[in-house]
Amino acid sequence: MSKFQYIQGQDIDRGFLIGVSVYQEDPLLSVKDSLDELSLLAKTAGIEVVGQTSQNLSQINPSTFIGSGKIQEIIEQLKYLDVSVVVFDDELSPRHQRELEKRFGEKIRLLDRSALILDIFAQNARTREGALQVELAQYEYRLPRLTRQWTHLARQAGGGGARGGSGGVGLRGPGETQLEVDRREISRKITKLKTDLEDVRLHRGLHRDKRKKSGLPLVALVGYTNAGKSTLLNTLSDSNIYAADQLFATLDPTTRKISLSNNTDILLSDTVGFIQKLPTTLIAAFRATLEEIIEADIILHVVDISHPNANQHIEAVDDTLAEIDASRMPRILVLNKLDRLNGEDPEIKLLDDYQAVVSISAQRGDGLDDLGRVIIDVLEQNKISLEVVIPYQNGNDYSQLHESGYILEETATEIGWKLTINIPNKLYNQFKVYAMDEIK
Ligand code: GTP
Repeated sequence: MSKFQYIQGQDIDRGFLIGVSVYQEDPLLSVKDSLDELSLLAKTAGIEVVGQTSQNLSQINPSTFIGSGKIQEIIEQLKYLDVSVVVFDDELSPRHQRELEKRFGEKIRLLDRSALILDIFAQNARTREGALQVELAQYEYRLPRLTRQWTHLARQAGGGGARGGSGGVGLRGPGETQLEVDRREISRKITKLKTDLEDVRLHRGLHRDKRKKSGLPLVALVGYTNAGKSTLLNTLSDSNIYAADQLFATLDPTTRKISLSNNTDILLSDTVGFIQKLPTTLIAAFRATLEEIIEADIILHVVDISHPNANQHIEAVDDTLAEIDASRMPRILVLNKLDRLNGEDPEIKLLDDYQAVVSISAQRGDGLDDLGRVIIDVLEQNKISLEVVIPYQNGNDYSQLHESGYILEETATEIGWKLTINIPNKLYNQFKVYAMDEIK
């Protein structure tokens, strides 16, 4: 596990967590559950958690977030436990950050959940686009928070080592403080990263066109972090029943072609894991990637059914899907890790938004036949039959139908191809202009 990046000069970071419950708010997770999750995040980032505390507040203190008595109590614990990092469960405003840093003293590095998640994302970025997006999110997060204590960060690359920094620190202009130089440097990096991202996205657009041309239905995996999406993707592409371990390296390293039982081929695409309180800068930076979900024919929402907060996880994922306007897409709920339930029934609030629910164990390979059948059913349910006449000059549209196997009947007429087609709903707008009659 890689060492946490914000801390220098120590091998093991001793972390202390702070959670807050604000009166009258309706949090997704209780403060205790949220702190448990924060503790896992901290461990993932290489921090050894040695203590934690929480406070119920009727309102947030505008200066220090938590009350002064609580701060005093925490300062004593930090000394006693020899803590080097304090992690706040909520996103701290730049002012909170500054004021709390002053109180805790120079020896303590203060992070919030967002900084921690950004760091973990940086360590796990697999594609160049992913690395650029996280780096952009990190700089946008840091810019307003830059203080003297943080200035060394301006000289580091954006994190994760996924991508090297783009050069040294700018020269100090007349009358400029080091802080101003650092701010200018970060703004320059942000501009550069945005240009680099544009380039990468242009390329991705080409890949997407290729994928569309393949005509295969696209199924997007989404889920709370650790739900088992990657395991499912691997099991499906390795298993004999679902043969065809074909990596679409030219599309995207995490999109694979899978053959389902009745010779239906699909493309299955892994996406970034969700989590409650996902940093806003991260959602913004990943928006383009997340929006790819909207292009899919079906969403497979994978849930770790053995997790005590499974229902809250579903809600957090649904909220993020709503943010990217994917709520109305065909969705299948996949209850994973069934092997951990020891025969008990999963306790899931059943949701109308889902067209089907399937229980599986991605690790053991249980329930995958069912899942394949349900995917085929839902794909069929979301198709529409039309009779169309496509003029001969619109050969591209004809080819698309032909290559995707959507043509049921075909006759040549004087004005064009007269076809009976069965297409996914999402193509309806493209082909309705040729429609003679809607069949169903
Ligand atoms: P993110 O990358 O955070 O989005 O996670 P993910 O959803 O891709 O989860 P991943 O496939 O990495 O699995 C998370 C953990 O759950 C791993 O340790 C898996 O071995 C474990 N896991 C996945 N599926 C199952 C399952 O069916 N049963 C059990 N017992 N463990 C599973």
